[in-house]
Amino acid sequence: MKSSVLVKSDHSSFLIKYADWVKKLPESEIRRLLRFSPKYYFSGGKPGILPVDTFHQIMEEIISEERILLKRKDSKVLEKYNYGATEGNVDLRTILANRLRKRDHVSCSAEDVLITAGSQQTLFAINDCLINPGDIILTTRPTYLGFLLPAEKFGAIIVTLPSDDGGLMPEFIDSAVKLCKQKFNKVPKILYTIPYSDNPKGTTLSSKRKQQIIDIVFSYNDLLIVEDVAYKEIQFGKTGNYIRPLKENDPENQRIAYLSTSTKEAASFRMGYSVLPEGLRHAMVKAKGYYDLCSSEFVQAILARYYEKYIDLTLPLIRQGYEERCKAMVKAIKEYMPDGSSTNPTGGFFVWFEAANQDFDSHSFVQKAIEKGVAYVPGFAFYPQFGYAVTEDSKLVRLERPTNSMRIGYSLLSPKFITDGIKLLGKLMKEETRKVPSKFSTFMV
Ligand SMILES: Cc1ncc(COP(=O)(O)O)c(C=O)c1O
Repeated sequence: MKSSVLVKSDHSSFLIKYADWVKKLPESEIRRLLRFSPKYYFSGGKPGILPVDTFHQIMEEIISEERILLKRKDSKVLEKYNYGATEGNVDLRTILANRLRKRDHVSCSAEDVLITAGSQQTLFAINDCLINPGDIILTTRPTYLGFLLPAEKFGAIIVTLPSDDGGLMPEFIDSAVKLCKQKFNKVPKILYTIPYSDNPKGTTLSSKRKQQIIDIVFSYNDLLIVEDVAYKEIQFGKTGNYIRPLKENDPENQRIAYLSTSTKEAASFRMGYSVLPEGLRHAMVKAKGYYDLCSSEFVQAILARYYEKYIDLTLPLIRQGYEERCKAMVKAIKEYMPDGSSTNPTGGFFVWFEAANQDFDSHSFVQKAIEKGVAYVPGFAFYPQFGYAVTEDSKLVRLERPTNSMRIGYSLLSPKFITDGIKLLGKLMKEETRKVPSKFSTFMV
């Protein structure tokens, strides 16, 4: 992108001079791809199963209650149509705190809960409040780009650790901290992790790994865990296979920022909710006051009712639907995609595929695929632009973003469309990879 642009009008012209980050960082690849809507849409994590009639019912309940207040000329009716507290509506925070205590084993009260515009606002605010240029963040590679881009915007050094089919590999945390001390003369500030069905790979941390992570991270005084549980409600199985969070190990609420969101089960309302160590929460309320003053009171009233009365009635069907979609995708990948490896999620929205042909460039190929009717997110987008990698033999090197991977989302389409779309994608990729000689075959020639 150009660093400035000349804007002309009839009367004047002037130069817009952007802040440095605008030219340094790209638009989110997921947001960019949302502009295209091919028949087989596997790119953004758009929920395709939402309890719309339940939302209607809730709004009807709220409106009929308001009609009674209006008749009585009760000024309480104005509250939902007004500005509210920056940290969020206290009724909603109380309901969420009760649910977090009972279901997530997170020790908290309404005062500990912060409401935001989706979890994305929390991710941005965490970086805004904690990161000075040159501060270090540890995370897996690949990881959620919605965390990476704000981190890079604020000048973080991102050091990535290897991940496998079980997610973050705890054995690399200690060596990462040591390597950071050697190279940058400081210890990392944040470990960012997505324990359940992570974005982009769909992997889930075992209890054993969680305990190892806690033991290692808590042995350092000033390393904060940012635990992003965006997919915690979309865990497959009858009971949602509920696995206990890292945050359970932080009853004093000091070491772990616990970030959740309503958007996977109630996307349109754009509400994130988090439990944050007290000092951090104060800073984040201040930051939120700068971003948007407060969240919509009306939307919070809808969500308060949803979380209090309806969510557990709707979730079993929602989970079952996503599980069917996931199974259809995993099966279709095995059947139709070219040689490569893929994950087998137990929840969430995404499968990660790595083509065996290392020369396959999923980034340049995505545009061709979209023209033929199928979209995914190229894997390179889930790696930092300017990051570092702790290698499997514990060295710290500049990260090179691999190009042979892709995130394929199954949340939006029905199993039949998933099968047909993956069949098409597989066919297109096989045609493409035939054109791209692998390094080995080039050598043979
Ligand atoms: C891991 C993860 N964290 C956070 C978010 C942002 O969520 P929200 O839509 O609530 O802003 C997403 C969205 O896809 C996500 O996958």
